[in-house]
Amino acid sequence: MALTVIDHPLIKDKLTRMRKSDTSSKDFRENLNEIGQLMAYEVFRDVPLKEIEIETPVSKTQGYTIDVPVVLIPIIRAGLGMTEGIQRLVPTSRIAHIGLYRDEETLEPHQYYAKATKDIDKSYVLVVDPMLATGGSCSKAISIAKEWGAKNIKFVCLVSVQEGVDRIQKDHPDVDIYTAALDPILNEDGYIVPGLGDAGDRIFGTK
Ligand code: PRP
Ligand code: URA
Repeated sequence: MALTVIDHPLIKDKLTRMRKSDTSSKDFRENLNEIGQLMAYEVFRDVPLKEIEIETPVSKTQGYTIDVPVVLIPIIRAGLGMTEGIQRLVPTSRIAHIGLYRDEETLEPHQYYAKATKDIDKSYVLVVDPMLATGGSCSKAISIAKEWGAKNIKFVCLVSVQEGVDRIQKDHPDVDIYTAALDPILNEDGYIVPGLGDAGDRIFGTK
């Protein structure tokens, strides 16, 4: 399915701040959540609405409300850093969690946590992680969400590379991908270049 690169000037400015190695953990987190919020504006463009009748102080009128449950699935840890920003735009969204870490040698993802939400099969689901590198973590998270019954899934990340995009399009051709940047290279250690380093470590101040 589709790859959308959301390259708005405000996102480019904030992402550049995040890429700088001397950016503090606090600024990194703030910019990540703000970018998540800005990306949500585009990602939710097709969310189903229903018409409702409301009363303004002046008259009755027709309005709109989101017509599906929305579920955000951050891939722990780094996905947590984008989730609050998106949830601010859709405060009724529920949060499911999938915990994965990437083996440093094999780059294979390992699951250590998973908690679904109710009615996920009827929900509009966003899997969220700032980094799409080999694509292993994202692909596994989407597989877990599908095992829970999720059908309408999008993946939202900050920085991606073509290798990861290709992996998701092969493993999950039904899932649309939204990214703020498509970087040129994945190095031999599995890091995106130029990227922004280890997103989880920068968000949580580890290492
Ligand atoms: C990072 C990142 C993704 C994954 C991307 O997580 O947040 O989940 O790597 O790499 P991949 O596309 O090659 O799978 P990491 O495993 O470092 O865990 P963390 O979020 O706890 O730091
Ligand atoms: N995970 C990260 O946090 N950064 C990368 O560059 C690749 C995977």
